[in-house]
Amino acid sequence: MIVRVAILVLCVAVQGRGSPMATTYDTIIVGLGPAGCTAASTLAQAGKKILALEAQNRIGGRVKTVPFGDGVIELGAEWIHGTHPSRVYDLAIKNNVSIISQNLGFEAYRSNGTKADTALINELFEYTLEVQEHPPETPQPLGQFITTKIKEYLGEKHPDVLKDKDYVDEILHFLDLLVDNYEASNSWNDVTTQTHYVDLEGDQHMSWHRNGYSTLFDILLNTYKGGPGYPNLEIQLNKEVVLIEWPTDPEQLVTVSCKDGTKYTANNVIVTVSLGVLKERHSALFTPTLPQTKVTAINKIAMGLIGKAIFHFDVKWWRADREAFYLFWLKGDGLSKNETDDWTTDIVGYTVPKGCEKCLTFWMKYDTAKMVEKLPEDVVKRKIMEILRKFLGKHFTIPEPVAMIRSDWHSNPFTRGSYTYDNVDAPKYPDARIHLGEPLLDSAGKPRVLFAGEATDPTHFSTVHGATDTGYREAMRLLPVTSKI
Ligand SMILES: Cc1cc2nc3c(=O)[nH]c(=O)nc-3n(C[C@H](O)[C@H](O)[C@H](O)COP(=O)(O)OP(=O)(O)OC[C@H]3O[C@@H](n4cnc5c(N)ncnc54)[C@H](O)[C@@H]3O)c2cc1C
Ligand SMILES: *[C@@H]1O[C@H](CO)[C@@H](O)[C@H](O)[C@H]1NC(C)=O
Ligand SMILES: *[C@@H]1O[C@H](CO)[C@@H](O)[C@H](O)[C@H]1NC(C)=O
Ligand SMILES: *[C@@H]1O[C@H](CO)[C@@H](O)[C@H](O)[C@H]1NC(C)=O
Repeated sequence: MIVRVAILVLCVAVQGRGSPMATTYDTIIVGLGPAGCTAASTLAQAGKKILALEAQNRIGGRVKTVPFGDGVIELGAEWIHGTHPSRVYDLAIKNNVSIISQNLGFEAYRSNGTKADTALINELFEYTLEVQEHPPETPQPLGQFITTKIKEYLGEKHPDVLKDKDYVDEILHFLDLLVDNYEASNSWNDVTTQTHYVDLEGDQHMSWHRNGYSTLFDILLNTYKGGPGYPNLEIQLNKEVVLIEWPTDPEQLVTVSCKDGTKYTANNVIVTVSLGVLKERHSALFTPTLPQTKVTAINKIAMGLIGKAIFHFDVKWWRADREAFYLFWLKGDGLSKNETDDWTTDIVGYTVPKGCEKCLTFWMKYDTAKMVEKLPEDVVKRKIMEILRKFLGKHFTIPEPVAMIRSDWHSNPFTRGSYTYDNVDAPKYPDARIHLGEPLLDSAGKPRVLFAGEATDPTHFSTVHGATDTGYREAMRLLPVTSKI
């Protein structure tokens, strides 16, 4: 039996080699994250012959569900941000996958081991979100704007707090970290008040919990619950695309070359690699090179970073009714300019992931995340346990963790960051995301290289639902206007 299987495999391999350039595809899709899988699914359902090339050894991109502890954890995207209109939420519901809301109501602890004024911090956090809805007419760095507003607010509602300069600084440091963890920025002053991001309606923190976010790809690719996939969609993993040669002559095909030397041809190609990847390699990736408007967009849009370190314990030692804990750093307790090389002061807190009962996810902003990706594992583990005991050790008996896992979105050459945000330069380049998403046309005006991905969505960038929308958008660009998928 074993011998027969081996012979069969050999035959297939020989056949594959024996027919170079035999197949030409309608469309080649580069990258199988949310955008690529949505484009592949849409075109495959329309009967197109599709080849999807993914550089990594797995489907999902910046969605990465990993078995861990007593369940699964998410190293990348964690929540469905809003339910309407959301292709992602709709697909889950249509397929009867349970999606549950995560309550991020938090409790905050101070670095001297006492409980912080959670009510006040919560009030100021809510206010921070609220003032962002009413930006000033002239764009400003977000931190500068919020600082002014918070001081006005404190003067009115909590004048005693405003008099305590250290306390105000501590609050502002804390709010800065919270904003950075949403935006993926390194400082809230890198973010503009004039962001084009628009929230969807509904709950902003819906979780795939034990199902895992990766279920989305099974649904998209028709493999959920043993589904057969799409016969006209060919998927190849471990296929790093290094060159896309696109013709201006309408008679010629697009040629896509991979690092392993293989080449494929198609009528057109949809590129879904992250903005981080485009920043690093766009000039080598395309022949002819990209037009200046697109290069400007690639250079000007900001790629952010957040990181996670996830701990598994053998007991659930924290308050069972809380799913978020924030760390409030006091001045002179690590929080001072001289000690910024101590990255632990930039950890804003941790949440309890919905897919793993006895796990805690520590969240890290840009510079911290970048550094933590590179540190030895035992150092990261020891330092994080140190701060955990510093803040909560007087309230709980904290055991050693059983295991730790961390993200590497910056080191990963196929992501180079977590997601994009509108930085202080964004108001100067209001059409950058539109330019990024524009196709390259041949001399007959036909799109030959199309661009999808999170960064190309003008209002829903940085999310999975936004990314899937762009995959659908680019697939539809290639289908007759009458088709409905
Ligand atoms: C830590 C973290 C937390 C997040 N949290 C959330 C959240 O809670 N909710 C939410 O909605 N979003 C969240 N996001 C954002 C979300 O994950 C992304 O917006 C989304 O995955 C982007 O999808 P995409 O298809 O545009 O790109 P990607 O997911 O990056 O997919 C692109 C694919 O292209 C592949 N690729 C790259 N280069 C090549 C090459 N040369 N050849 C072939 N293939 C290549 C990559 O390997 C990848 O698979 C989070 C992201 C991170 C990192
Ligand atoms: C959906 O799931 C529920 C609970 O698991 C089950 O009772 C029901 O039959 C399912 N419906 C469909 C359409 O699969
Ligand atoms: C901890 O810090 C708070 C805020 O500065 C202070 O009020 C409290 O007395 C401190 N407690 C201890 C035990 O140091
Ligand atoms: C902090 O840094 C400043 C400027 O470099 C220096 O003057 C000061 O002495 C330092 N304080 C401590 C406690 O090291």
